[in-house]
Amino acid sequence: MRTLADQFDAGSSRYDLLVGLNPGYHAALAFSARALAERVRRVPGAPLRILDLGCGSGASTTALVRALPTDTLLQGLDASAGMLAAGARKAWPSWVSFGQAVCGELDLDAIGRGRWDGVHAAYLFRNIPAERRDAALAEVWELLAPGGWLITQEYSVAGDQRATAVWEIVSRGLISPLAAAFDPGNGDLYRYLRRSVREFDSTEEFCSRLSAAGFVDVARHDVRGWQRGILHTFRAHKEATA
Ligand SMILES: C[S@@+](CC[C@H](N)C(=O)[O-])C[C@H]1O[C@@H](n2cnc3c(N)ncnc32)[C@H](O)[C@@H]1O
Repeated sequence: MRTLADQFDAGSSRYDLLVGLNPGYHAALAFSARALAERVRRVPGAPLRILDLGCGSGASTTALVRALPTDTLLQGLDASAGMLAAGARKAWPSWVSFGQAVCGELDLDAIGRGRWDGVHAAYLFRNIPAERRDAALAEVWELLAPGGWLITQEYSVAGDQRATAVWEIVSRGLISPLAAAFDPGNGDLYRYLRRSVREFDSTEEFCSRLSAAGFVDVARHDVRGWQRGILHTFRAHKEATA
C-alpha cells in the first residue's frame, strides 16, 4: 500500500497546477503568511527564524517569502521527497532552505528546540493521523522560542452541516473531475483529500488540542469566499514566560 508521502511524491509534478485551479488558494496562503509576519518578533541581534512545516512544493513558502523581511532565516520541512524536489526546481532567495522531515517524528535537537520565532503550517495537521496529532503539536511548542507564534491553515468541516455539504459538492463535483483530468493515475491522493477533510477535527477540537499543547491566545479566523466555513486559519501563542 502506498504511504501518504508516496502519494504526495506521485502527485508532486501536478500539485502546483491543481492548487492553482482553486480560486483563493494563494490568497489564503498570503493571509496566513501575513498573520505570522505581523506577530513574530525577532530576538535582538539575531535574524527572524521561521519554519514552514509541510512546505510541500513551496506554495506556502512563497507566501512567507513575500510577507517576511529579507534577512529572515526561513526553513521549509516536508515528508515528501517528490514535493521537495518540485520546490527545489523554483528560484529561492539565499535566506530560504528546505529539508526532509516527518512531523510527529522530528529530531527536535537537530532542528533546534526553542530556536524558532514562528511556525507556519498550511494543510499539514489534517495529514497527521489523529493519534499522532497531539505529539506533532507538542513538537511545534518545543521548537518555538518563548513568545513565538504558530499560524496554521486547515480545512475542517466536522460538526458544520453546511460546510460538510459544500465540501462534498465541491470535492465530488469539481476537485475529483479536475484531478482525474490533470493527474490521472493519482486518484487515491484526491480521494484521500476528500476523506481527510471530512474526518479532520472540528475547529473546536483542534483549538482544544492547541490549548492542551500549552498554547495561549488560541483563535480561529474563517476564510471568506467559497471556502467559508471550510478553510480556517488558527493562531496560537507560546507565552514569553513559557
Ligand atoms: C496539501 S500539501 C501543502 C503544501 C504547502 N504547505 C502548500 O500550502 O501548498 C501537504 C504537505 O504536507 C506534507 N506532509 C504530510 N504529512 C506530513 C508529515 N507528517 N510531516 C511532514 N510533512 C507532511 C505532504 O508531503 C505535503 O507536501
